[in-house]
Amino acid sequence: MLCLVAVALSFVGLATLLVKFAKADGDFTVTSRGPPKREEVEGKVVWITGASRGIGEILANQFAGLGAKVILSARNASELERVKSEIISNYPASSIEVLPLDLASGEESIKEAVKRAESLFSNAGVDFMVHNAAFERPKRKALDETEEGLRATMNINVLGTITLTSLLAPYMLERGRGHFVVMSSAAGKCPAPGQAIYSASKHALNGYFHSLRSELYDKGIKVTVVCPGPIETSKSSNVSSSAEGGLKEIGAKRLDAAANKKSAYSWNLLFGQKKSI
Ligand SMILES: NC(=O)c1ccc[n+]([C@@H]2O[C@H](COP(=O)([O-])OP(=O)(O)OC[C@H]3O[C@@H](n4cnc5c(N)ncnc54)[C@H](OP(=O)(O)O)[C@@H]3O)[C@@H](O)[C@H]2O)c1
Repeated sequence: MLCLVAVALSFVGLATLLVKFAKADGDFTVTSRGPPKREEVEGKVVWITGASRGIGEILANQFAGLGAKVILSARNASELERVKSEIISNYPASSIEVLPLDLASGEESIKEAVKRAESLFSNAGVDFMVHNAAFERPKRKALDETEEGLRATMNINVLGTITLTSLLAPYMLERGRGHFVVMSSAAGKCPAPGQAIYSASKHALNGYFHSLRSELYDKGIKVTVVCPGPIETSKSSNVSSSAEGGLKEIGAKRLDAAANKKSAYSWNLLFGQKKSI
């Protein structure tokens, strides 16, 4: 009898796990997380790079919806203004600032941006730095990559991001708190055929930020490295989808689900119709 109960319980457990896995778009990380914790971001200053479209735009909306004060950065100022207006129409009470920034523009200009970000909201420096910007990801074989593509990818994804981090971290250290959230990629964990340079840049980011965490964890600074799989992100009218090539099916609709449902749980992610966002 006991044996039967144990087998039945195992089946129920397995079935529950499978349902959770399916609802989380095949992503066990999502299954282990509950809904967003409003109390952790409400009133906090969140600076997001790459906020003019795609994942950055959705993150900006979600942080604003949770009551954070949001700073939007990217190169395209008019797209940032569009994102700001849309957020304000979604959340009229939200505090949103636009801070145009080119991560490839060198230390002096990034330093200026950091100073501005630190002073945009009175008596509140940056609490969360969301490193989300990245150079476009054209599919190109490793040996076909151009010098120009190599430099642009490394300048934006790695050098600019690290420079921004090292210029902002001292402010956070002075306050004894801060959180770097790094939008890396599954391509930063495993081979990404056709995207060797992009993959190399994400591996570099992972190496830097995991090391940074080990240096700063006891000083109140947190580091979260996110490594998502492919996601379709054609939110802006004039920008094409940037889902990473190869594994486009599972996971491709995560952003859509997150935008519409405020979480990534949806049966439609796995079993829904194939359509562009
Ligand atoms: N989509 C996916 O399948 C996927 C999967 C895993 C990880 N990721 C990562 O998630 C992040 C966002 O991806 P996404 O698909 O949303 O990207 P996206 O749509 O291509 O957007 C990239 C963002 O980065 C900004 N950007 C580009 N060059 C910049 C520069 N020099 N200085 C400052 N900002 C710059 C762009 O704005 P401007 O052009 O206005 O500067 C844009 O806002 C990236 O780090 C990406 O590697 C994406």
